[in-house]
Amino acid sequence: MTTRTQATFAPPVMEARRWLEGATFPDNQPLINVSQAAPVDPPPAPLRDAMAEALTEPDTHLYGPVLGLPALREELSDQWSAHYHGTVTPSQVAITSGCNQAFAAVIAALCDQGDEVILPTPWYFNHKMWLDMSGVTAIALKTGPDLIPDASLAGALITPRTRAIALVSPNNPGGVEYPADTLKAFYDLARANGLKLIVDETYRDFDSRPTPPHGLLSDADWSDTLIQLYSFSKAYRLTGHRVGAIIADQALLAEVEKFLDTVAICPPQLGQKAALWGLRNLKDWLAGEREEILDRRAAIHDNMPLLDDKGWRLMGCGAYFAYLEHPFAESSATLAPKLVREAGILALPGTMFTPANDPSGARQFRIAFANVDREGITTLFTRLAALDWPLASPTAAA
Ligand SMILES: Cc1ncc(COP(=O)(O)O)c(C=O)c1O
Repeated sequence: MTTRTQATFAPPVMEARRWLEGATFPDNQPLINVSQAAPVDPPPAPLRDAMAEALTEPDTHLYGPVLGLPALREELSDQWSAHYHGTVTPSQVAITSGCNQAFAAVIAALCDQGDEVILPTPWYFNHKMWLDMSGVTAIALKTGPDLIPDASLAGALITPRTRAIALVSPNNPGGVEYPADTLKAFYDLARANGLKLIVDETYRDFDSRPTPPHGLLSDADWSDTLIQLYSFSKAYRLTGHRVGAIIADQALLAEVEKFLDTVAICPPQLGQKAALWGLRNLKDWLAGEREEILDRRAAIHDNMPLLDDKGWRLMGCGAYFAYLEHPFAESSATLAPKLVREAGILALPGTMFTPANDPSGARQFRIAFANVDREGITTLFTRLAALDWPLASPTAAA
C-alpha cells in the first residue's frame, strides 16, 4: 500500500539543508545560500510596531472567519481591481494560511482522485507534491529554451480528466515573466475546454513590467475560468506569519471554505492584520524593495559574461530567480552537494523541478538571488566560473 504522503517526494529545501551538515566554510569563503526563495530579513520596523499593537487587541488571539478578515478581503479586492483594471468583489477573495495552502485548497475544491492538472516544467515542486498527495496526476507541459509554456502544446495534453492548468508567473523556478499574450492564450484554452486556469502570482510585486502583467480580470466573466493565488510572504516579509490569498469565483470559495475550516480553521489573525497594514501603508516601501530586486536581477545579467565563457547559459531571470544551464558532465543532483563543499554555494538542482523521466533538470540549477546583493552576486558568479569539473561536451572538455 502507498499512503498519500508516500506518493510524493521529501521536501526539497529540507533535503538541501542536510547538505550543510558537517560542511565548514572558511572565513574567506563564507556560504552563499541561494537555495530558498524567502526573505531573510524581518518585516520593516513600522510594520513590526503595528503588529506589536495588534497583539494588544483581544481578537488577535481568537479564531476568526474561515475565509479571512473582512477588512483584508475588502482591501485586497480594491487593490486587485485597481491593479488589474478589473472587478473583484470582497466575496471573490479568500485569505489562506499562505499561498501553498491556497493551492492545496483550490485543488481540493476542483479535483477528484484520478483527475489531471497540467503544469509547465520546470515546475514549482510543492504544486507537484500536493497533486501527488491528492491522487491527481500532474501532466508535464515541457517548456522550451526560453521557459515560456506554449498553449497550443497544452491543448494536446487535455483529456476528459483534465480539470485545470496551473501557471506561476513570474515563474518559480524559471524567473521568467509570462507575456500577457501567453496568459491570454492559456485563459482562452482553459475556457474553451471548461477548465480552470490557476495563476500563482506570488512574485507579482517584483514583476519588471510597469503595466499590469495581464488583462484577464478585465473580462467581465473572468470568474468562470480564472483563479489567482497570492502570497504575503515576499511582499512584506511575513513568511513566518503564513498569509496568502485566493481570488476566485464565490461558489468555488464556498468549497474552499470546507477545506480551510477543516485544516486550519482560519488564517492567523496577527498575520492578517499585518498584511492589511502592509497593503494600506507600505506601497512606497514595497516599490523600493522591487527596485532593489530589479537591480539584483540586472546584476545577474551584468555578471553573466563570466559564466557564458565557461559554457553556462542563462535560461530565465526575474523576480527572485535565475535559472541556469550548466556545462558539466555530471547531473546537477550530484553536483549540488559538491557545490556546497567545494564552492560554498547552496543552490537547488534542476532535478528538483522536473519529472523523473525528464533529463533536462540534470543540466540545470536554480539560483534564488533575492537575498544576495550586487557584490554577493559577483562573488557567486566568480566562484561558479572557477569550477573546473569535467565538462559534458567532449569538444568543450578538450
Ligand atoms: C510559486 C510559489 N507559490 C507559493 C509559495 C509559497 O508561498 P507561501 O509562503 O505564501 O505559502 C512559494 C514560495 O516559495 C512559491 O514560490
